[in-house]
Amino acid sequence: MLNGNIDFYYFSGTGNTHLVVKKMEETFLKEGVTTHVYKIDKSDPKDVNLDHVIGLGFPIAELSTYDFVWKFIKSLPTANGTKIFMVDTLGGFSGGIVGPLREIVKKKGYQPIGAQEIIMPPNIFYIQDENTNKEKVEKGLKKAEEYAYDILDGKSRWGRVPLISDAIYYTSIAALRLTHSDLNQKYFHLAVNKKKCNKCGQCVELCPINNIKMEEGKYPVNLRDCAYCLRCTSFCPKKAISAPFNYKSKTYRAVKAKELLKT
Ligand SMILES: Cc1cc2nc3c(=O)[nH]c(=O)nc-3n(C[C@H](O)[C@H](O)[C@H](O)COP(=O)(O)O)c2cc1C
Repeated sequence: MLNGNIDFYYFSGTGNTHLVVKKMEETFLKEGVTTHVYKIDKSDPKDVNLDHVIGLGFPIAELSTYDFVWKFIKSLPTANGTKIFMVDTLGGFSGGIVGPLREIVKKKGYQPIGAQEIIMPPNIFYIQDENTNKEKVEKGLKKAEEYAYDILDGKSRWGRVPLISDAIYYTSIAALRLTHSDLNQKYFHLAVNKKKCNKCGQCVELCPINNIKMEEGKYPVNLRDCAYCLRCTSFCPKKAISAPFNYKSKTYRAVKAKELLKT
């Protein structure tokens, strides 16, 4: 049985990772393991307690994960054998994260004890129907529970496919740079439809990197450093923020906005 408290750091754009992390937290707590869950976008990596087991949870984006999630992970303090595990959620294929991340945390002095990728409904390009999504979520959460037990029982593993995953990692890091380039930000600007917007400001609150500002008394403005986590488009109560990547502009969310915003 795993010894020690678990501190689980995660980010979730549209709720899939949130559900998975909550299921794992629930399982750990049921088995008497003290577990605290923290949001990556609200946490300082310097505050990580190296006497606890560290969990990392995030969605896959561009075969990797978001730039600000990488920044958090790469800024974790140097450890001396602190146990660490990861879980990601994805629509279908990643490839550029599990192996490279294992090497990064190992070099920092952590002991990698488990990695799991969990397929959940895709939130970009093609949004599936409600029943398909429901089935995927159920299956995903079952896998999350099993993985949590594997971690507790010492059965989880964090493997690495050399070369292939490294090649995908470097390609995806280049793609993430392109994502944040001026040209991309200009071309794929998530615009606010002023006719639909009710100026509620929820998108400002939801944006994990403070990229949306409310013009004084006016409409929200999406500044030019979007990570495309799709929180603003998916949770907008008035569907006022464009979803240029999605077929027929359909959006997906696994939970309500207030669930994600809970501290
Ligand atoms: C910008 C972006 C890029 C994505 N890239 C991938 C990808 O490369 N591979 C994949 O399988 N899913 C990809 N997805 C789908 C998400 O990883 C998946 O739906 C995930 O469960 C979302 O988790 P969340 O709800 O916690 O944000 C991408 C989603 C977004 C928004």
